[in-house]
Amino acid sequence: MHYPPLQESSPMWPGVIEAYRSYLPFDEGTPIITLNEGNTPLIHAPRLAEAIAPGSGLRLFLKYEGLNPTGSFKDRGMTAAITQAVREGAETVICASTGNTAASAAAYAARAGLRCLVLVPQGKIALGKLAASLAYGADVISIDGSFDDGLRMVREITERRPIALVNSVNPWRLEGQKTGAFEIVDQLGGQAPDWHCLPVGNAGNISAYWLGYKQYGRGLPRLLGGQAAGAAPIVLGRVVENPETLATAIRIGNPARWRQAVEALDESGGIVTAVSDEDILEAWRMLARIEGVFVEPASATGLAALRQQIARGEIDAAAKTAVIVLTGHGLKDPGTAVERAGQPVALPAKIEALEAYLTK
Ligand code: F0G
Repeated sequence: MHYPPLQESSPMWPGVIEAYRSYLPFDEGTPIITLNEGNTPLIHAPRLAEAIAPGSGLRLFLKYEGLNPTGSFKDRGMTAAITQAVREGAETVICASTGNTAASAAAYAARAGLRCLVLVPQGKIALGKLAASLAYGADVISIDGSFDDGLRMVREITERRPIALVNSVNPWRLEGQKTGAFEIVDQLGGQAPDWHCLPVGNAGNISAYWLGYKQYGRGLPRLLGGQAAGAAPIVLGRVVENPETLATAIRIGNPARWRQAVEALDESGGIVTAVSDEDILEAWRMLARIEGVFVEPASATGLAALRQQIARGEIDAAAKTAVIVLTGHGLKDPGTAVERAGQPVALPAKIEALEAYLTK
């Protein structure tokens, strides 16, 4: 089979740094480490809008970040963090992670030829994230502690040794992640939505989106952050020592970008709210069953928060535009899906059995 060479005018998506270079601190000469991340679809969700705000005329859109190369939004920030690590001559990178940052760091480090260490909380990382981190060849270190413990460890080791830290305390991560805001504005035809809804864990993403909207200068949304009720330090205003939630991606008790997130929420006239695991699961089911969009549980937290705030009358949905960031793909966490979405029907391999099932 013969393929023609790519032309300069090829419409190939170059990844977020190249696509938005004039808004980012990377000059033309910098070699970019990319997996062509970004350019994720903004999916119109009219049936879901009707389900959560009947008759309101709410225009609801889903930013499906699970379609990034490693299955989560982390790739936007990781292309920037790894590009910068290479620029600075790093040979090893490290992060603490609930799983998605780990998989993303591992992939981009592999592409750059760097060693990658990831610290993950033992037994609290979804299978797809563990599988990917191992497959990309990272040193996966499972600690008998939480994400917060891991973050403390990686912060300390990078002060002692010449290892680059690629958690979102690294400002380059935010530089990359803010491109999500640029894309949303572009996809909405040049204007920010009224509401921007997303889960909040370590609080890097909400901080990055706010930077992005402000820099792009095409209107500002109000931010709606959702935290899991068992891991809601920002809502409670205090560190949660033993965070618990089935949304393991956001099982975080002491977010690194806490202050910046609160500033962003305040500046935007936003809301941060806690949602129960049951509400997260209900939102997770609604996304899959009403719109055909499968996400990992944590990623449904933005919808759970919006649904709660509309139901409580805190958000008036009438004729508003809302974007919900769906941060990670459903296949990241197949275990929760199999446990919570019902069992397959077992039948003998006979047509009569299928007929009987259908007439039941
Ligand atoms: N959604 C998913 C799927 C995540 O993996 C994370 C964070 C968040 C939301 C929250 O984003 O931390 O910027 O507020 N995951 C990190 C990780 C902590 O290690 O993968 P945040």
